[in-house]
Amino acid sequence: MTSNKQERLGELNSQMSKCSKCTLRPGCTRVVPGEGSAEAAIMFIGEGPGKKEDELGRPFVGAAGKFLDEMLGLINLKREGVYIANVVKCRPPANRDPLPEEVEACWPWLMGQIKIIDPKLIVTLGRHSMERFLPNQKISEVHGKAMRREIPEIGKRVFYTLYHPAAALYNGSMREVLIKDFQRIPKVLEKIEREKSEK
Ligand code: URA
Repeated sequence: MTSNKQERLGELNSQMSKCSKCTLRPGCTRVVPGEGSAEAAIMFIGEGPGKKEDELGRPFVGAAGKFLDEMLGLINLKREGVYIANVVKCRPPANRDPLPEEVEACWPWLMGQIKIIDPKLIVTLGRHSMERFLPNQKISEVHGKAMRREIPEIGKRVFYTLYHPAAALYNGSMREVLIKDFQRIPKVLEKIEREKSEK
């Protein structure tokens, strides 16, 4: 059965595919809205589509995505059980960092996705995703820490910051840290649920 949330998310994502609010769209092949369950308790937010994502219109399907899938497996999750999206939905040319104005142009789409999914936990992947939600933080200091923040469009939310899988892929020590942080996600979620039930 298709849930009402899934339908609303599908509708939002198809509107996104027609977006031309910044200059990334003419330079990319496909818009990559995101994928997964509209009922997800956990939403992962990366930076922006890479080459493979741009070709397929799906997030995290290259080498970093394979690593993300492996880490999801370590905590008994599959990508169908979570939601995976990016701060920008169109590939920046030559994989450059998204510009602040591109992130801002895309922001309402991401806010719309979060409002529909209403995840219990938002996991930011990498510095750029972290920076938009938790400005003025150093990822080396805040990775693996859950933080509650109020974001005007979506209210109070719990954020959990991780290193980006692509950055950690070929860096042995960062990879170890990322895996350890990732494995704490179920505990972070349990704590959120426990605190909610005690309210
Ligand atoms: N890196 C990202 O940040 N997002 C993707 O979808 C793929 C790689």
